[in-house]
Amino acid sequence: MTDRVIHVLDARLASLAPQRPRTLVAATGHVADRLDRPLRDLRISVTDRCNFRCTYCMPKEIFDQGYPFLRHAELLSFEEITRLTRIFIAHGVEKVRLTGGEPLLRKDLPKLIEMLARLKTRAGRDLDIALTTNGSILARKARELADAGLKRITVSLDGLDDAVFKRMNDVDFPVRDVLDGIEAAGAAGLGPVKINMVVKRGINDQEIVPMARHFRGSGHVVRFIEFMDVGSSNGWRMDDVVPSSEVIRRVSAEMPLAPVDRNYRGEVAERWTYADGSGEIGVISSVTQAFCRDCTRARLSTEGKLYLCLFAQKGYDLRSLLRGDAAHPALSDAEMETVIAGIWGERDDRYSEVRTEATARAPKIEMSYIGG
Ligand code: GTP
Ligand code: 5AD
Ligand code: SF4
Ligand code: SF4
Repeated sequence: MTDRVIHVLDARLASLAPQRPRTLVAATGHVADRLDRPLRDLRISVTDRCNFRCTYCMPKEIFDQGYPFLRHAELLSFEEITRLTRIFIAHGVEKVRLTGGEPLLRKDLPKLIEMLARLKTRAGRDLDIALTTNGSILARKARELADAGLKRITVSLDGLDDAVFKRMNDVDFPVRDVLDGIEAAGAAGLGPVKINMVVKRGINDQEIVPMARHFRGSGHVVRFIEFMDVGSSNGWRMDDVVPSSEVIRRVSAEMPLAPVDRNYRGEVAERWTYADGSGEIGVISSVTQAFCRDCTRARLSTEGKLYLCLFAQKGYDLRSLLRGDAAHPALSDAEMETVIAGIWGERDDRYSEVRTEATARAPKIEMSYIGG
């Protein structure tokens, strides 16, 4: 146990200091990493706190009252987040996803959404702004989020049976409130809602077919996610993973499915429609069928570190460049653009393609800190 606690702290404290640029390189709307992948998608974690303690993400024995969550002064301000987003857009980002912890716990979040919604992509289009939430307070917030300019929402839901759901969130939270949140999001125009279910064998896999059946015909899309070895605290074992191929077999046995093409290159979910036209489901197979080849995602932590992979061990400290310090001035937008292009240009991460039982045990950043 002590060993696991140390890993959690180590991974978060480790950071890389990006080089300050000597010459400037103008942004062109396109940067490629070493594997020729562009930068299209920015995931921003707005808080490292959550009111759930999902056993696969924030196990209670580690994320307890003594856990050192970030202090307010450490968080990026809304102005800093918006400024960084603008800089990422200069390199071709078209999509932003707000995550957490639980993003709806961040004070005044709709204000941030309003600020982001004013930004345009390089092509002059609206930025695609999405949010991933546990849905616990969504019923009260959905309208306000939509009014602020949110376009799409993803709700995590790991089972329909109240006892199973409570065992997953580990804080006794009832499933009814999340279902109400999904309905409110649909009514506020945020639909179709994507509903993410992480599947763990022997824990909630009996909920696969009921979840599919419940949301079939609702217009919402359930996506079944293979349990991953993110972080160092969730005790991942390959035996706990239910391969997507098995999910499809189990759903299809009751409600026949047919495969459909992905919506866009790099989409993480593989799509399947019900043969009778009553909707679709998705499967996300980062363990059994890695999708690193098309990974165009950068992740920004709550206090402004840039991570190039969900399984990274270290992030690049952008906040100190944005703010400057006693010895160094704050960087201009043009300088920040140069720094970020340099970091992305060196990227060669492809963790899911090279995962082994040994890498699964290595210290990594927690998903509650960096966001899904
Ligand atoms: P949109 O297509 O923009 O709606 O979002 P998405 O399909 O990327 O879905 P979302 O952000 O909800 O991601 C769903 C889940 O896929 C996450 O919670 C992760 O479990 C997994 N996932 C997303 N991005 C990555 C990634 O870059 N690497 C890995 N290994 N898993 C990912
Ligand atoms: N494996 C797969 N997905 C995970 N998430 C969090 N932890 C894991 C994990 N170990 C994803 C879930 C959740 C979102 C916030 O992060 O999709 O819905
Ligand atoms: Fe919170 Fe989401 Fe992690 Fe669950 S998976 S503990 S809801 S951040
Ligand atoms: Fe991208 Fe890393 Fe996930 Fe691969 S493992 S898809 S590189 S975030």
